[in-house]
Parts: sequence; C-alpha cells; structure tokens
Amino acid sequence: MNNIIPLLAFSLALYSCTKPEPVVNDDPKPFSEAHRPQLHFSPPEMWMNDPNGMVYYKGEYHLFYQHYPDSSVWGPMHWGHATSKDLIHWEHQPIALYPDSLGMIFSGGAVVDEKNSSGFGTADNRPLVAIYTSHNAEMEKQGRNDYETQSLAYSLDDGRNWTKYDNNPIIRNPGYRDFRDPKFFWDEESKKWILVVVAGDHAEIFGSKDLKSWNKLSEFGKEYGSHGGVWECPDLFPLTVVGENTKKWIMIININPGGPNGGSGTQYFVGDFDGEKFICDTDKPVTSWVDYGPDSYAGVTWSNAPGNKRIFLGWMSNWAYANIVPTTPWRSANTLPRELNLIRINGSLHLQSVLWDGIERLSQSEKKFANLSVQDSLDLSGELVFPVTKSLLRGEIEARDFSFIFSNPKGQHVKVGFDSKARQFFIDRKRSGKTNFSADFVKDIVAPRLATSGRIKFTLVTDVSSLEVLFDDGLTVLTAVYFPEEDLSQLKIYSPTGVIKVDSLTVSQLSSIW
Ligand code: FRU
Repeated sequence: MNNIIPLLAFSLALYSCTKPEPVVNDDPKPFSEAHRPQLHFSPPEMWMNDPNGMVYYKGEYHLFYQHYPDSSVWGPMHWGHATSKDLIHWEHQPIALYPDSLGMIFSGGAVVDEKNSSGFGTADNRPLVAIYTSHNAEMEKQGRNDYETQSLAYSLDDGRNWTKYDNNPIIRNPGYRDFRDPKFFWDEESKKWILVVVAGDHAEIFGSKDLKSWNKLSEFGKEYGSHGGVWECPDLFPLTVVGENTKKWIMIININPGGPNGGSGTQYFVGDFDGEKFICDTDKPVTSWVDYGPDSYAGVTWSNAPGNKRIFLGWMSNWAYANIVPTTPWRSANTLPRELNLIRINGSLHLQSVLWDGIERLSQSEKKFANLSVQDSLDLSGELVFPVTKSLLRGEIEARDFSFIFSNPKGQHVKVGFDSKARQFFIDRKRSGKTNFSADFVKDIVAPRLATSGRIKFTLVTDVSSLEVLFDDGLTVLTAVYFPEEDLSQLKIYSPTGVIKVDSLTVSQLSSIW
C-alpha cells in the first residue's frame, strides 16, 4: 500500500478529530447493489482494507477493519467494527477508533487481557486491548522517517467503546519508513506478551509484561522469503502438526507488491519460537503462500478463538487495483474465514486451509453427481435447477486437464482448473465482464500443485463477485474477484484432452447472509 500513501497524505487535513455521524447504508434494500457480495463481509458504505483486531470474546467474534468513512477510496484510516456469533452473519457496529493527533489508525491486533496485566480493567472486568500503528501523515510529508509508531487502546465494555492510552505511542519508531501492523499474544511458556511488527524488509519481535512497555527481543526475515515489496501485517502463532505431537510456529508476512500473481500476497514460514527469536526451519526456503490468488491480502488470525482454532481472514482485494474496482457505494470485502492446520507432506510442513464450516448452513438446495464422464464439455445448468451464482461445490476429479466454467448469457465467464503438464492450477478471469479498469486485473493467475495423488479434491465457493478455491484439501488455495455485467449463473465442466472422470460433485445453493 505504501505507494498510495504519499498520494493521499494530503487528505490528513480532511478528517476532524470530532466524531462524525456514523455512516449508514440507507438503501431501501441494503446490500443488493450490483456486485455486492452476498456471502462475504463488506462494509455498508465506503472504503475498507485490512481486517484488524480480530478477537473472540464472550460469544462474539470481533472484526475491526481499515476504513475510511468519507470516501470509497483509501484515505485517513479509522477502525470500522463488526461482530458475529458464527463468523458468517455480521452485525455492523459504529466506528471503533478515529484518527487523532498521533495520526491515522493503521492496522493492528487485539487481545483479551485475561489477567488484567495492563491494569486497565479489573479482575471482574477484563479489558480488551488493541495495539495499532499510528501513521502520522504530517510527519511523513515533512520527509521524516519516524512517522509510524505503535499505540494502544482498551475497551471495558466488550469492544463497543475504546479509550486510547494517555502515554501513546507505546513503541517509538527507531527510524524506519515502514514500521507497522503489530500483532501480539500471551506466550505461556516465556510468561510474557509477545508482539511482532514489520519494519520494511523484516519483522521485529518485542516482549512485555504489561502490554504498555515493550522491549525488542529479536529480528527475523531479511534473508528469508519474498522481498518483492514491503512487508506488512505479520502474525505469529503455534500449531501442532496434524496427527503428531510436534508443536511448530508459523510466521505470516503479508507483502505488497511481490505476491505470487503480482501485487499483494500472504507468505508464511514454519519454524520454532524460543520466547525471543523465531527460527525458520529452512535456511532459504522457497516462498510458501497461504493463498496464491490475487485477492487475499493482509490476512491474519483471530485471537482467543474457541477450541484453540487458528481462524484466518484476508482482505479480498489487491493494492494493484483495490481503489478502482467498479463497485459503489462501498469498496472491498473479506475472504471467507478459514481454519489453518499444519500438515506434513512428503516430509515437509505446509499450511492447510479449511473453509469455515458455518458456510454449509447457508445451503438451501443441493444436487449430487457421481461418476460423471466429461468428454469435451458437460453443461450442468440443465441438471441444476438453481443458479450457481452463490454456491458451494465440493468433490473429487481426476488429476488431468480440466476447468470449471462459470458463465452468464452474455458469454462472460470465469474459469478455474488444472493444467497437468505445468502441474499448475489456474483461474482465468480475462473475459469475466468489467475488466478494463486495470491491466493488472487480466493477468494470468496460476498456483503450483503440491500434492501428487491421481485425484484432486476441490472446494469452491462462488459469490456474486468472487471465487475461492481450495484444492487438495486446502493445500493450494486461490481467491479472485470479478465483476460480470450479469450473474455468472451457469456451470460447465470442460475437458480439453479426452474423457475425464469426476468421481463426485455436490453443488449447494447458498442463501445470502444479509
Ligand atoms: C496493508 C496496509 C498496512 C497498513 C494499512 C493502511 O494493506 O498497507 O500495512 O497498516 O494497510 O491502511
């Protein structure tokens, strides 16, 4: 995003420190505009980017997000807020954090301070504590390097109202132009709070006993992973390898540009954490990506999620064109939530994304197919008595060339499939409708196949303007948005190189969350 900050820095003057009226979408049928996602979270109006401060508390999943309430392009950042009981249906809440004299409210995390170590609450009323980046555009304009610092706010009423700490900023800038997006957690083993923040081309780890005073413990990453852009939005958390007793640590680092298909992307590293340092398993690992598609960015995980689950959520856009996608009066949505697991395949560890199962509960009708043989092309639209505009598809197919084609009567379509020679999955949205707003939007989208079996399991979710695909039990994930002039309601399976077997396919029609 750093390339747009200078452009928009002037707009600091536009915000006022007094609270404006909350923005409401007063459309008589809200959330029914062209391209409005029906299964995904989007703000009622105006601009949204990164998910922030995701924390579960007292039966509610809190989602805060980068938000500019006065325009549908990026500008002075606030934290928008929404809550959910099931991670599928959302209730919009008033804006939680407004810019102040330290600057705009950039990305960050939030936790439940269980033991009231910060002292902001009481033993009976534990505080929620958020730490975010204060981005001072005035200082940036003056050509200084220390305009990003880390600040704290707390809530004593279940995340509804937030008080900024008097002594902000709590972490000063040592002279990095990019120093942002703190994410933090309580580390039971070293008995302290651990915070990870990014500093341009590496991450820095800090420790604290009280969430207010922090000291630097270590650095990670200058020589690791992708460095095609600025490191943003880190995360650090433990996972136990599925089926083993091995505990490993995952470091997530978002990067822009430098993503696997251009622009924004989310890479991860597997290693260990000793209470001070993150030690990556491999010396110079090939970069691993949580999602290879162009439209999953700034993804991090929920804090305090029930059942010790690691639930990941990304922003479903890409800085290459986020500000100019053809939607109004809002811009951007989030991905669906995904649970992250760590699995061992042929000796090496990989993240596996599992679609949040709440989505199944939106199923209205379902059609099952078994042992389909597809020669050339099989049109399923006749068999499916419902449109596939909002649908969940699950099944298994031979690991040979194929594509699923979602189309409309205008001939606009999105293809997703497998190229067996290249051993690559792909999404093709070149003729998906409105595409001419950006040359970056019509580039090839590919992802490597990591599994080797002769069958490919797939889970696909289509919404009005997006497709999420999880291949091989979520080992390779791709997310892409699109803007057709009519719903992509029809489905065809295409087999370009002879007969291909679809062992099973279940198509469920999903109902809107709004
Ligand atoms: C990532 C990002 C963050 C920053 C925020 C600003 O998309 O650039 O690094 O905190 O967006 O809105």
